[in-house]
Amino acid sequence: MKYIESSLGKLKLDSCVTVASGTFGLDYLKLRDADGKLLLPQESLGAYVSKTITYELKAGNPSPRLYETECGLLNSIGLQNPGLKGFLQTDLPILKDALRIPLIVSFSGSSIDEFCEMITAMEPYQEIAGYEVNVSCPNVEKEGIAFGADPDVIHKLVASLAALTDKELIVKLSPSVTDIAQMALAAQEAGASSIALINTLWGMAIDWRTGKAMLSKKVGGYSGRGVKPVALALVYKVAQVVDIPILAMGGIHTWQDALEFIYAGASAVAVGTANFNDPGAPAKIAKGLQEHCKTNNIHIKDLIANLR
Ligand SMILES: Cc1cc2nc3c(=O)[nH]c(=O)nc-3n(C[C@H](O)[C@H](O)[C@H](O)COP(=O)(O)O)c2cc1C
Repeated sequence: MKYIESSLGKLKLDSCVTVASGTFGLDYLKLRDADGKLLLPQESLGAYVSKTITYELKAGNPSPRLYETECGLLNSIGLQNPGLKGFLQTDLPILKDALRIPLIVSFSGSSIDEFCEMITAMEPYQEIAGYEVNVSCPNVEKEGIAFGADPDVIHKLVASLAALTDKELIVKLSPSVTDIAQMALAAQEAGASSIALINTLWGMAIDWRTGKAMLSKKVGGYSGRGVKPVALALVYKVAQVVDIPILAMGGIHTWQDALEFIYAGASAVAVGTANFNDPGAPAKIAKGLQEHCKTNNIHIKDLIANLR
């Protein structure tokens, strides 16, 4: 896909389109349309980002934990995952076997030491091309305040991780902060090789008839079409201050949405909630971008941050 090749720090991407953590099961890669054609040829994607793993296995939250709103999706999955050991023993060999594109492992810890222990355990695996550090989780050493809410904590965490790896180190930021640019700068200064944003916003839905919350946890993460303007503004804000590449996500459903994020300053995009409507969405987005660039004889790299 030569018109839409891009890169994220150390990682060369054959396509600037990827999938957002937690929204794209590996099985989607096997889905076929009515004519038997693969819905999502891997070559459409520049990389595959895994669901966030944590040190310990997590069973996730009770149902209901997904609720579709007028213009988005609420989720309170609760980072359900097999834990570091389960991931390395069971999931990683499957991913290695199935993927012909770079694998980025999303992970999260409850303390800086735990994050470090996790990256150290993953380092020997050549099939892992890079990491996405999910800083939206509570820090047990700081009264449960999310790592991503404090620039000093982000700096300390990212510096500790950067010292332990030469692989691509993406820091995924939470939008639930007062000044996201400050968080991005802290990550860059500490050695992140790129920034991903946005993770979900806080959201809630209530049935007015019964007064009952729609999610068992009552509040959850909000994503999808409704968050796009927020995500665009935050990507633009971060792009104004950092020199490292940005992997953008938040409500991308079409190639035109993706292009808007490129103009705002993203070097690559990730498709999340759109996969629940159509697992073929990332392939359609990559195809649309490729055709647009070819028609206009322009490379996607020339459009990054080219906002008028
Ligand atoms: C069901 C669901 C599960 C998610 N799980 C994760 C996760 O494990 N780790 C993470 O960093 N983000 C997770 N996210 C957030 C997405 O990766 C993405 O940042 C966010 O949804 C915004 O993009 P979108 O609007 O295209 O979905 C999840 C989102 C959804 C909808």
